[in-house]
Amino acid sequence: MNINLKKLAGEKAIDYIRDGMIVGLGTGSTTHFFIKKIGEEIKKGLDIIGIPTSLSTEKLAKSLDIPLSSLSEYQIVDITVDGADQVDFDLNLIKGGGGALLREKIVASCSKKVIIVVDESKIVKKLSYPLPVEVTPFGWETTLKKLEHLGLNATLREDKKIFVSDNGNFIIDCRYQEMTMELETRINMIPGVIENGLFRNMTNIVLVGTKKGIKKIKNTKECVTQT
Ligand code: A5P
Repeated sequence: MNINLKKLAGEKAIDYIRDGMIVGLGTGSTTHFFIKKIGEEIKKGLDIIGIPTSLSTEKLAKSLDIPLSSLSEYQIVDITVDGADQVDFDLNLIKGGGGALLREKIVASCSKKVIIVVDESKIVKKLSYPLPVEVTPFGWETTLKKLEHLGLNATLREDKKIFVSDNGNFIIDCRYQEMTMELETRINMIPGVIENGLFRNMTNIVLVGTKKGIKKIKNTKECVTQT
């Protein structure tokens, strides 16, 4: 992890923003640089409306006087810029290291274009980052057991106290041998599971901050987000 490379990637995403756009504002330390850049451009006259993907992003955007709205007002988002914990060569992502996966996935699914900003350490051949699974607090112990029955090494996210998402839910981090579509389906079928942090085929462009500068990776396949 290199904060300068995160800055490089985050700030580059401003090139895709135009007046009049509804912009999904992602969550995390890389997106932070994008949001700060948006704040600077707003001061110079940029006219956009942001849809935050977390309470922390909402707070940051408000502090920068970025006009905000929600999916209640705008069901289609022109472009979303967000970070990721890992990106594979097919541009599938693991997200939710910061616990914002549910809102991030909903906003991404409503977006015409999704741009992911990462430093080069996040790009991998095969996904291995523990999959965050958002679950209801009610019965979480049995949900965790069911995740383990799928062969996952499942751990409730806690640090002295249990981590609670912006939606009032818990997160179970799951280590796996191989992230397959079948495994994802079986995870989603467990009652109590609300969402998981695998973003399959939702990304249009990845901007990678590398020691040699910005690298842009384009998805050649059609995405499952709005077009
Ligand atoms: C938030 O829940 C995550 O999905 C973040 O987007 C992801 O963890 C990337 O965060 P950083 O940009 O801080 O590495």
